[in-house]
Amino acid sequence: MKVTVITGTEVKGCTYHIKEAFLEVLREDSEITEYVLPKDLPHFCTGCKTCFMKSEVFCPHASWVGPIWNSILAADLLVFACPVYALRAPGQMKALLDHLCVHWMVHRPDERMFGKKAVVLTNAIGPLQKGAQRDIATSLRWMGVPDIRKLGAPLMVDAFWTKLPDKRREAIVRRVHRLAERYRDGSPARRSVKTKVLFAMTRMMHQGTARNEDPLSADNQYWLDKGWIKK
Ligand SMILES: Cc1cc2nc3c(=O)[nH]c(=O)nc-3n(C[C@H](O)[C@H](O)[C@H](O)COP(=O)(O)O)c2cc1C
Repeated sequence: MKVTVITGTEVKGCTYHIKEAFLEVLREDSEITEYVLPKDLPHFCTGCKTCFMKSEVFCPHASWVGPIWNSILAADLLVFACPVYALRAPGQMKALLDHLCVHWMVHRPDERMFGKKAVVLTNAIGPLQKGAQRDIATSLRWMGVPDIRKLGAPLMVDAFWTKLPDKRREAIVRRVHRLAERYRDGSPARRSVKTKVLFAMTRMMHQGTARNEDPLSADNQYWLDKGWIKK
């Protein structure tokens, strides 16, 4: 199984150890590619919209984003691990997700995303982690990923892995191992109703706008070339 891991912090703290605990279970039978943010994408989206209007290959950060996207496309399982900052995903994770908007259903989705599984691993001092998980899951959902699981680890006692009591660390690792076990068989995800509905809705939208467009937008041309809409 091919696994692509995006870690939303360079600190080798709680996120790192939780991510490592997850991979520990899968390492033997998997080919794992890892990216760490912001090291592997140290740029925010500039808002130039060149990806939408022309192609993502002309993005000023294509040399950073391209390899990450290609790795995501090649993977069977995607793992997003990050701490919670201000009740949300950290900015560096959002910066990557912003660069991937061009691959949302409303623009130019890649059908390889429709068979992937994804895991979102978060940790925070407190228990409120849904906002951060949703930041990532929403993007994945709109890119067509049908099977997304989330695990949030509330640290409660301290923000430093080494300062957590052994019992707390062990309890977190046990939960993470249990989740990782579910992915050992490497089976692909089935296309979910949500993915099907989003695809059907956006296809109607693209079909509707393509009828009145000459020349076609880059998005509509892509849908036409895929054979998903007619001119
Ligand atoms: C800028 C910043 C914002 C944070 N915001 C929250 C928060 O909103 N809620 C919370 O429970 N913990 C918050 N924390 C605590 C982090 O989630 C905690 O430090 C992290 O889980 C530790 O993981 P790490 O060792 O990988 O950095 C914040 C930490 C930082 C540095």
